[in-house]
Amino acid sequence: MTLVKLKKQHFPLFYKWWNNPVLRKLTSNKFKKITNDEVGEILNKHLYDKDYHDYVIVIDGVSIGHILFHKKKNRKYFEAYIAIGERKYWDKGIGTQSLVKACNIFFRNKPNEDAITIQALVDNHRAIACYKKVGFQKKRIIKCKENSTVLMKLSK
Ligand SMILES: CC(C)(COP(=O)(O)OP(=O)(O)OC[C@H]1O[C@@H](n2cnc3c(N)ncnc32)[C@H](O)[C@@H]1OP(=O)(O)O)[C@@H](O)C(=O)NCCC(=O)NCCS
Repeated sequence: MTLVKLKKQHFPLFYKWWNNPVLRKLTSNKFKKITNDEVGEILNKHLYDKDYHDYVIVIDGVSIGHILFHKKKNRKYFEAYIAIGERKYWDKGIGTQSLVKACNIFFRNKPNEDAITIQALVDNHRAIACYKKVGFQKKRIIKCKENSTVLMKLSK
């Protein structure tokens, strides 16, 4: 497994992943189809903004998923996000392995950062189990009308 920095050539994969209803249900409260232009707009911002660090997960030359670290305005910590877009790669330890690797790269590149947070919808048990294996600890539930999320934190 390797982690490759996001490039424009990856954008069509995101169009596919972000419009996959199964994936959207696990990662977000809402499902609205997203256009190619919207995908480009979002990811171009990620490429040029220092508060976004995106990696594509590559297995045997195949790009299968995405890891992002993003610091929102006025937040203390960067938040991680992971989605393996190709279903057949779930439950093989790849999420855990790639998140461990990405967090190590993150802490190495950003020695002043003490911790990373991550969220999952409360009923996304696979994601929560994966994050626990990486070392994230549950901090609190963030309540939301549609579906609450669990906030977890990994300290250096
Ligand atoms: C969440 C995700 C990144 C995890 O990566 P992964 O490679 O599938 O996860 P791993 O194989 O490393 O670990 C998953 C763990 O969850 C467990 N698991 C799977 N389904 C489960 C369930 N319904 N309840 C409890 N545990 C479950 C697995 O058994 C495994 O634990 P184990 O190794 O102790 O057996 C990946 O499945 C994914 O991208 N899913 C779709 C998008 C998503 O949900 N993203 C996260 C939210 S934003």
